[in-house]
This record gives sequence, C-alpha cells and structure tokens, in this order.
Amino acid sequence: MKKKIALIFGVTGQDGAYLSRFLLNKKYIVHGVIRRSSSFNTSRLEDIYEDPSLKNRKFILHYGDLIDSSSVSSLISKIMPDEIYNLAAQSHVAVSYTIPEYTSNVDGLGTLRILDAIKSINKKKIKFYQAGTSEMFGGTQKKSQNENTPFDPQSPYAAGKVFAHTITRIYRNAYGIYACNGILFNHESPLRGETFVTKKIVKGLTKIKLKKQKKLYLGNLYSKRDWGHAGDYVEAMWKMLNQKKPNDFVISTNKQYTIKQFINIVCNKLKIKIKWRGKGLNEKGFDQNNNCIIQIDKRYLRPLEVHNLRGDFSKAKKILKWRPKRNLNQLVEEMIDYELKNNGQ
Ligand code: NAP
Ligand code: GDD
Repeated sequence: MKKKIALIFGVTGQDGAYLSRFLLNKKYIVHGVIRRSSSFNTSRLEDIYEDPSLKNRKFILHYGDLIDSSSVSSLISKIMPDEIYNLAAQSHVAVSYTIPEYTSNVDGLGTLRILDAIKSINKKKIKFYQAGTSEMFGGTQKKSQNENTPFDPQSPYAAGKVFAHTITRIYRNAYGIYACNGILFNHESPLRGETFVTKKIVKGLTKIKLKKQKKLYLGNLYSKRDWGHAGDYVEAMWKMLNQKKPNDFVISTNKQYTIKQFINIVCNKLKIKIKWRGKGLNEKGFDQNNNCIIQIDKRYLRPLEVHNLRGDFSKAKKILKWRPKRNLNQLVEEMIDYELKNNGQ
C-alpha cells in the first residue's frame, strides 16, 4: 500500500517532535518545515533526523516560513501531502503583547496562507489540521469549556488564533476542504519550551534541589490550567484527520490546578518541604531550611490574564474515541526524571 505523506509546519516545536514520531510509527512519510536560524534549531528531532544524502528518507526537512506565502504554496504543491498539520506559531502568550503584529501575521494570516494554497492546488483532497487553543476562551465565565462556549480572547496570540479558527471553518464550509480545528488545552512534556510555566517550574526546582540555583521568579500563582501530556494530544490531531467528516474538537483532561498547586506537587515529588508566607506580590515560598526559593516578579504578570481553563472533551471521547492516557502526576514525574537525567542542565 502507498505510504501516506504528512507535512508539518512547526515541526521543530514540542508538538512537532511528538507528532513526527507518532506519524513515523504509523508508517507515514513525514515532511517538516523549519525556519532558517543562525544556530541549530532541530534539537528536539535529533533521534529521528535523517541525513539529506540518504536515499528513501522517511523524515525530510525543508526551509520555509509561514510569513512567506511563496514558500508555503511551493512546498505544498511540491510535496502534495495527504495531511497538513499547522502547528507553527509564535506560541507564547506573554510575548504576543510585545510583538502583536508579528504574532497575528504568523498565527492568523499564516493559517490563511496554507488554506489558500490548499484551495488552489487541491486536486488531491489534502486534509488540514489547525492547532487551535483554549486561550481563545480567554475571559469566559463558564466553569468548563466545550466546542459551543463563545470565544473571548484576551491577548494578541488568542486573537490571531480566533482568526485562524474562523478562517479554517470558512474554508471548510465554502470550498469543501477537509479542515479541522483542534481546540487544545495546555499540554506539556519534557520537550516543552523552557519559558512556559510547567517546564520553568520543574527545571527551576530541580536545579534548586541540586543546589545549582537559589531562587525561581514567577508571575501569577492563582490562574488555573488544564494540563495534559503532548504525547496524548498529538494522537487526537491525527484522529481528527482520519474521520469520515471534518469537525472541531476540544482536547483536554477536564481537571484543573492552580500554578501554586503545580509547584506544591513538584516540590512534594522532589522532597522539598515548601512553606508559603505573605500575600499578593509579597507571597514567597520557603524550603525546609527557611531559604526563599520562590518569589513573585512583576515582569511575569500579563496585561490581561486568563484565569480559568478547564476543558470538557466529551465530544472527542464520543466521536474520536479519544481520552487522555496520562494524568498530571505521571506528567510531572516524567518531566522531573528528564531534568534529573540531564542533571539540571
Ligand atoms: P512551540 O514549541 O512554540 O513550537 C512552535 C513551532 O512553530 C516551532 O517549530 C517554531 O519554529 C514554529 N514557528 C514559529 N514561527 C514560525 C513561522 N513564522 N513560520 C514557520 N514556523 C514557525 O509550540 P507547541 O507547544 O509545540 O504548540 C504547537 C502549536 O499548538 C502552536 O501553534 C501553539 O500555538 C498551539 N497550541 C499549543 C498548546 C500547548 O499547550 N502546547 C495548546 C494549544 C495550542 P522554531 O523552532 O524555529 O521557533
Ligand atoms: N510563562 C510563564 N512564566 N507563565 C507564568 C509564570 C512565569 O514565570 N508565572 C505564572 N505564570 C502563569 C501565566 O500567567 C499563566 O496564567 C499560566 O502560568 C500558564 O502560562 P504558560 O505556561 O505560559 O501557558 P499559557 O496558558 O499562557 O499558554 C500555553 O497554553 C495555551 C493553551 O491554553 C501556550 O502553550 C499557548 O501556546 C497555548 O495556546
């Protein structure tokens, strides 16, 4: 049987690394788009990287950029994939307030560039996955959110993603493209970017445990997040593209924790006896020797915060037969083990 071909925009990111391995295991030929960088940016792909001189490669990387329409359309028409996964984004919410125009260009218009290329060369019925986000629910008052919850974006990042979600739906309805929006809640792993809060906490506290760092500076400790494992979530992306009809799905765990609860879980596993004192900006975490190990730094507070995210994944459970395999405890243990193996480097 002819092997399926996938094209991943954002292959060098956390999800790109997990999805590539997942699709290679399913015997796909995987093409990935990387950006030109002054230093190597493929560290998450080291064990699946194939030298360009090899014949019959299963994993092939190409230069391209979502803000360059010609690279997007020429890659799609050259590769003619069965499935396109758009995971590429300026994905940091806080940074999106600093570079709003760039973020909107990549996260919003970038999606349109791919869809337009599919529309004009869609002889082969290319399927499309858009990496949507729970951040789109932003300021919602609903305790838990599903596919029918109205969006209320609170950042340039979320505004760009709402555009991408909407244009994906419009291209599906107007042109019959098999296009799906995943609305994924936070998902983490040992490969998570270092400036996202779970990785920052696990890495920072591991270093503190190993006496390689004294203190960790954080922002808001009271926002609530629904954290799953990236490895479980990429399977849902693939399932969405392998149904009879395209559709949009929330992918989540339906459990939520505050940042402070996450810190307490990590401390417990690292056998750090954390004690909290003070309130507001003066709240601090101390270890058993009364050393201050956690402190608030105003620089990490956002102009607008998303306070409450908890996803109801009933639709994915019913139609995709998907459910998360790993819970928060397993996720945290895996993340800590990885940091300990790397000796807090
Ligand atoms: P990530 O680790 O930040 O990876 C983002 C990827 O996009 C990287 O490969 C990055 O390349 C690439 N990229 C950035 N700008 C680009 C551009 N102009 N052209 C082409 N590629 C570009 O993000 P992630 O955590 O894997 O998330 C994957 C996607 O899911 C993102 O769209 C994110 O917004 C969305 N999402 C993530 C979560 C989550 O909790 N992880 C939840 C919901 C939705 P470089 O390596 O060169 O920077
Ligand atoms: N990054 C960061 N750094 N966040 C902090 C810090 C800190 O020092 N201190 C507290 N936080 C709080 C943030 O204010 C936010 O409420 C929460 O921790 C989570 O922040 P992030 O880990 O940066 O994730 P996010 O929820 O803003 O965004 C991630 O998840 C989205 C899905 O809901 C990203 O992966 C987005 O790309 C994704 O769409």
